[in-house]
Amino acid sequence: MCGIVGVLGGHEVAPILVEALKRLEYRGYDSAGIATVNAGKLERRRAVGKLVNLSDLLVHEPLAGKSGIGHTRWATHGAPTVNNAHPHQAGKVAVVHNGIIENFRELRAELAEAGVQFVTDTDTETVALMTHHYMTQGAGPVEAAKKTIARLHGAFALAFLFDGHDDLMIGARKGSPLAVGHGTGEMFLGSDAIALSPLTDRISYLEEGDIAVITRTSVEITDANGSLANRAIKTIQIDATRVDKGGHKHFMAKEIAEQPGVIGQALSHYVTDAGEIILPDGGVDFTKIDRITMVACGTAFYACLVAKYWFEQVARIPVEVDVASEFRYREPPIPANTLALFVSQSGETADTLAALRYCDGKAQRTLSVINVPESSIARESDLSLPIYAGVEVGVASTKAFTCQLTVLILLVLKAAHARGEMDDAKLADHISALRGLPSIINTALEQNETMREAAFKLSAARDVLFLGRGKMYPLALEGALKLKEISYIHAEAYASGELKHGPIALVDEDVPVIVMAPRDALFDKTVSNMQEVMARNGKVILISDAEGLAEASNGVWSTIEMPKVADLLTPILYAIPAQLLAYHTAVAKGTDVDQPRNLAKSVTVE
Ligand code: F6R
Repeated sequence: MCGIVGVLGGHEVAPILVEALKRLEYRGYDSAGIATVNAGKLERRRAVGKLVNLSDLLVHEPLAGKSGIGHTRWATHGAPTVNNAHPHQAGKVAVVHNGIIENFRELRAELAEAGVQFVTDTDTETVALMTHHYMTQGAGPVEAAKKTIARLHGAFALAFLFDGHDDLMIGARKGSPLAVGHGTGEMFLGSDAIALSPLTDRISYLEEGDIAVITRTSVEITDANGSLANRAIKTIQIDATRVDKGGHKHFMAKEIAEQPGVIGQALSHYVTDAGEIILPDGGVDFTKIDRITMVACGTAFYACLVAKYWFEQVARIPVEVDVASEFRYREPPIPANTLALFVSQSGETADTLAALRYCDGKAQRTLSVINVPESSIARESDLSLPIYAGVEVGVASTKAFTCQLTVLILLVLKAAHARGEMDDAKLADHISALRGLPSIINTALEQNETMREAAFKLSAARDVLFLGRGKMYPLALEGALKLKEISYIHAEAYASGELKHGPIALVDEDVPVIVMAPRDALFDKTVSNMQEVMARNGKVILISDAEGLAEASNGVWSTIEMPKVADLLTPILYAIPAQLLAYHTAVAKGTDVDQPRNLAKSVTVE
């Protein structure tokens, strides 16, 4: 979602801000803007659409100055127009914002009563106008910003810049992430370390309620109580923030191809040479857990659905899975012996974070499986397990999904072993199968051409159905989500057995049906459902292994062959065709694969 950068530097800042914003592009946005202070004068430039439009504007209407703030906006309040784009300026203050100011109507009414005029539809303008209002009443910039921040409800990260002050920038964090970057005679603000990584590798992460008053040589941070706070400076690994396509046409293609490597990395972080699964900080005592509540959004939610099958069948622990946006307001009872488990690539998803806060103090332990170790969800859970996928830039989650599954299966095996549901020999078998997984995924990736051909056929469809049974049902859901989000083809997934309870009415010769069915114990049942589709002229793309295809590919429209893999690991392997079918369909349709319309990578508003 919205990205923030701020620089008090030693060089012309406009190109630096645009470069930093480019590094935040992956979060998703529909307009962008920057403001600078030059010889004390505050000015801004804003443009709708991609950053190239802002760069073009800056060629014709350059902005000088060595201090500036910049923003990529993902519209929430008001359409993506130039007028609604950030920075918002009121008198001597410019503001950029990520999040939502929930009480902006109330504040707006108060300001309107005082005769203040509004020129945009945004909640953010209220912040600029209120700060300006306090300044007109005699407050200095810092006091005015602090008084304004104290009035705001909701989730936000904010950066302020002031006319007449080219050595002052203020950052505030409540609910949305914000980091301070430390340079030599230069200081920075950024939504994440990726934005700042070419500028500095020394980062302090602001905590909830923090306000940072920044000059080129100092930063003074006050916490939620207004007390001075010391936030550690961490040296980040620049490699861990590298954002390039590595010779691929899209980030998504690169991230799909990286999966054998990153899964191998995740395994090596948690499994010793002797095959023991080691979790940090003492891990979780699974013998004291009666049930698990899993909460997440989108693709991460589907990873939780797979884990439910695993935890219940293998470790015999009852599991509930919920989408975070529903969970947080349902007020579910959380029995004391519950492990609350949150899965999130970004670690910043607003609903998942709220669900974690709801469980804090109720569940026996809160555990998160995240990709960004410094994220809010990681920091606020009792124990956090990184998935080691590396930066994921494509909006459609790919390698994060398979790495989430890898860490989750390790938790399942650990739990099953600890609870006496699995003996040493069986555990060793599973670990050995997991170690073979990267090479099996490589074999699956070699089917790229077959998937491109099938995708070409799919690209003409208006609607597509995905079917799966058992642990393949969440994979069908994931396949449908991937397809709709990047190719804009309407896709739905059903548990195969549910088909005849309604959705089969949709089947005709124009609706391709993708069946995900490894030759496992449920194969015959899924194939019966597939026959019901074909009997109604449905065009089936069957994804199975050689044995399954030999048995059931008669009369199907297309087949995709997956290598054989241990039964437990089929959900990780079958993510590959789910991803590649969507990818090639999107490429065939010419959509914006890495930044599909309307979507954001890090969903920091509810
Ligand atoms: C889909 C996708 C989203 C995310 C969801 C949760 O490809 O990427 O559905 O999975 O927004 O995001 P995180 O995992 O960051 O909490």
